[in-house]
Amino acid sequence: MNDSVTKTLGVAFVICLVCSLVVSFAAVSLRDIQKENATNNQSIKILQAAKIYDESIDVKTQFSKLEMKYVDFNTGKILDTYEGFVIEEYDQLKSTRDPNLSTSISASDDIAIIKNRENVGKFFIVRNDDMTIDKLILPIRGYGLWGTLYGYMAIEEDFNTVAGLEFYDHKETPGLGAEVDNPRWKAMWPGKKIYKNDEVKLTVIKGKVQSDDANNDYKVDGLSGATLTSRGVTNMITYWFGDSGYSKLFKELNYES
Ligand SMILES: Cc1cc2nc3c(=O)[nH]c(=O)nc-3n(C[C@H](O)[C@H](O)[C@H](O)COP(=O)(O)O)c2cc1C
Repeated sequence: MNDSVTKTLGVAFVICLVCSLVVSFAAVSLRDIQKENATNNQSIKILQAAKIYDESIDVKTQFSKLEMKYVDFNTGKILDTYEGFVIEEYDQLKSTRDPNLSTSISASDDIAIIKNRENVGKFFIVRNDDMTIDKLILPIRGYGLWGTLYGYMAIEEDFNTVAGLEFYDHKETPGLGAEVDNPRWKAMWPGKKIYKNDEVKLTVIKGKVQSDDANNDYKVDGLSGATLTSRGVTNMITYWFGDSGYSKLFKELNYES
């Protein structure tokens, strides 16, 4: 009897089983591909921040040309090794969840609202043919309106001029805060200056930068309707280029060269 309840349930069960096997197989077999895509996406952002990404060349090949180093944020010292980590795999965001590898930031110092700062970060060096430094690519992050924006700021060999800015993850609103990804806004960054008299001066202003403004090298147009995201970007620059971020590293590099 083909229309018995047992047979109906049996067919439904077999279909469910087959479907669940297909879904599980797809999830497991795609996991590695998804992970690789995420890594590639981040590598592209790192290369794009420094304006050296070439679509026609394999990402891994381009990325492998970058030099990776650790920086001890407390001293500014450059490290070749750290706690037995493999530098390619070192995830500094993971370190922020380990009290032994990070430092809790007091509310008054936490202008970028990141709560914990890793003791040791990872950065990238682009070298010229004669091995002198061409650019540095530095991870930065900070709170916008809806969540933390994660990105990279690339700077020139003077450790003062911006080469580019890219975000690889954020929760800002499309058309408002998410305009941080708009190529026209990103194009405003190269050439801007970070420090004036040893202080971080670069800010995202409200409105448009006037061409006759004597300080226009230190100002970037605000994102319209997104003052809070714009302020978040200013705050993360102030934090990461300040004393708790990369400023000690730059002193160290200037001393070495
Ligand atoms: C649904 C919604 C989404 C918003 N998303 C953002 C955002 O991503 N970034 C931001 O700074 N402001 C966002 N705002 C606006 C802020 O609430 C706030 O009004 C704005 O930052 C003030 O900036 P303004 O002075 O440029 O208008 C959003 C507002 C609404 C209603």
